Amino acid sequence: MNNFVFYSPTEFVFGKDAEVMVGKLVKKYGAKKVLVLYGGGSVVKSGLLTRVEDSLTSEKVVYLSLGGVQPNPIDTKVYEGIDLCRKEKVDFILAIGGGSVIDTAKAIALGVPYQGNFWDFYNKGIKIESALKVATVLTIPAAGSEGSGNTVITKEEGSVKLGTGSPLLRPVFSVMNPLLTYTLPPFQTACGIADMMAHVMERYFSNTEGVEISNRLSEAVLLTIIKEAPVVMAEPINYDARANIMWAGTMAHNGTCGVGREEDWSTHFMEHELSALYNVTHGAGLAVMFPAWMTYLADFNPDMLAQYAVRVWGVPDGADKKTVALKGVEALKKFFSSIGLPVSFKELGAKEEDIDELVKRLHGHKGETIGSFKKLTKEDTRKIYQLAV
Ligand code: NZQ
Ligand code: ZN
Repeated sequence: MNNFVFYSPTEFVFGKDAEVMVGKLVKKYGAKKVLVLYGGGSVVKSGLLTRVEDSLTSEKVVYLSLGGVQPNPIDTKVYEGIDLCRKEKVDFILAIGGGSVIDTAKAIALGVPYQGNFWDFYNKGIKIESALKVATVLTIPAAGSEGSGNTVITKEEGSVKLGTGSPLLRPVFSVMNPLLTYTLPPFQTACGIADMMAHVMERYFSNTEGVEISNRLSEAVLLTIIKEAPVVMAEPINYDARANIMWAGTMAHNGTCGVGREEDWSTHFMEHELSALYNVTHGAGLAVMFPAWMTYLADFNPDMLAQYAVRVWGVPDGADKKTVALKGVEALKKFFSSIGLPVSFKELGAKEEDIDELVKRLHGHKGETIGSFKKLTKEDTRKIYQLAV
């Protein structure tokens, strides 16, 4: 096991009606003026925005609201938020929504105190030294941004999707009420499920040895998702299934499953190029790319992939590890299809003739090699995109 520092300071307030606590929580964390940030309108329609604003008002918290964050969030909204926060002297950002709103909140939070262009943190890897406080009211279990220090933004010009991170960006609190997820369209629920599974698997497939605790925690999170996913798809108002999926999404990405081990993330990087080029939903892109990556890796590290197939999908073990591994990949694909996700370029709306462009952009953004389980060259990533066709 590698040395590690695990710092996860977020206060999670979980359960029915948890959002009524928002006003008190914002005060507890010392906010003077709050920007309430939200997306394309689901929180207006559901009445959640009004409930949160009422909670702030009842605690006499001063706030202003800004909506219109789009899925696969873009830089122009970040600039708008930074200008507004500076003008209004906002010192605290409350994101109501999913990864797109939370990631935009984090981008604004790091951009306000920075003299230069906030995008420098994404494309130049500059260290984040200060940021406004961010908190969340989560409405979709998926990206895990409610418990992570990461943010992913698309620069509209040139369609470049990049991420950055810092412990300073971990939300100070996240309110999580599973009832709020009842209104999710089935496709978004399914995409969220694929994303959280991917967050575990990016950490699970590692060359680090002696990490039984995080291996087993990862398997437990995956087994929970696999059990509860068909239930939430069939019964969208099943509270316990929604609650388990919601907490699994946080466990998948707050770092718990990755401590002490090298993480991979090449599938995420390959997917971000698909999201950037076609504006596809992140989880749908991952459902296409993860099985392709695994199929390719079965030639290089069949033992770890076979272990995953046996422990997570119940594939019978055997001497031929590659065959066992590939059965695990088939099980994953079947599972994604069963919850309505695409598993091929065609189903996703991606084009084979764009593969050269995808590879060029990917390595242009991420360097000669990506990932760590196997360091993937351009030749490797081209073959993996080809397998996804
Ligand atoms: O915009 P509104 O109207 O709110 O609708 C949203 C949006 O259309 C809708 N939605 C959310 N909650 C709802 C709801 N509709 C009905 N009822 C509800 N309760 O769902 C749609 C998708 O929302 P979005 O925030 O985009 O979803 P998600 O949480 O999947 O976030 C995806 C973004 O997060 C990034 C992805 O790349 C993508 O840009 N990621 C962020 C990460 C991080 N910060 O750590 C890690 C991830 O790997 C990921 O890359
Ligand atoms: Zn993800």
